[in-house]
Amino acid sequence: MQLTINDATHEIPAEWQDASLLTVLRDHLGLTGTKFGCGRGICGACTVHMNGEAVRACVMPARAAGQTRVTTIEGLAEAESLHLVQQAWIDESVPQCGYCQPGQMMTAAAFIARNPTPSPAEVVDAMNGNLCRCGTYTRIRKGVLRAAELAREVALEVR
Ligand code: FES
Repeated sequence: MQLTINDATHEIPAEWQDASLLTVLRDHLGLTGTKFGCGRGICGACTVHMNGEAVRACVMPARAAGQTRVTTIEGLAEAESLHLVQQAWIDESVPQCGYCQPGQMMTAAAFIARNPTPSPAEVVDAMNGNLCRCGTYTRIRKGVLRAAELAREVALEVR
């Protein structure tokens, strides 16, 4: 079985193929930016993208990712450029301890890609499934709105 992760193809040995995607990412491939929180699909710490959609890697069998394009926090930036969500997180000083933030940013990036003009209520709704023990929710919401603003600025520059 092969997995395509951050545009690189990885051969996954048989002994890892029944594991969760999170276990393969962290323990087999060493991509430890994706975090283990609850292990039950509840907290969002393990959020990655499969074909651009945010999914919970802890409850996703690695086999299910076989024919998809997986992106982790390590692959969110493009070349030397930060992803807009990463820049927004810096602009708004979002993280506190940081543990949940890769998952928060992956959820935010997938959300902004499908809704670049969100209302504050839509941001709350979109981010509701990602828990933060430090309670940085206000800054997370500001970060998502800032990322949407940056996305609109980029779109204007391209025109
Ligand atoms: Fe996957 Fe909590 S570790 S949702």
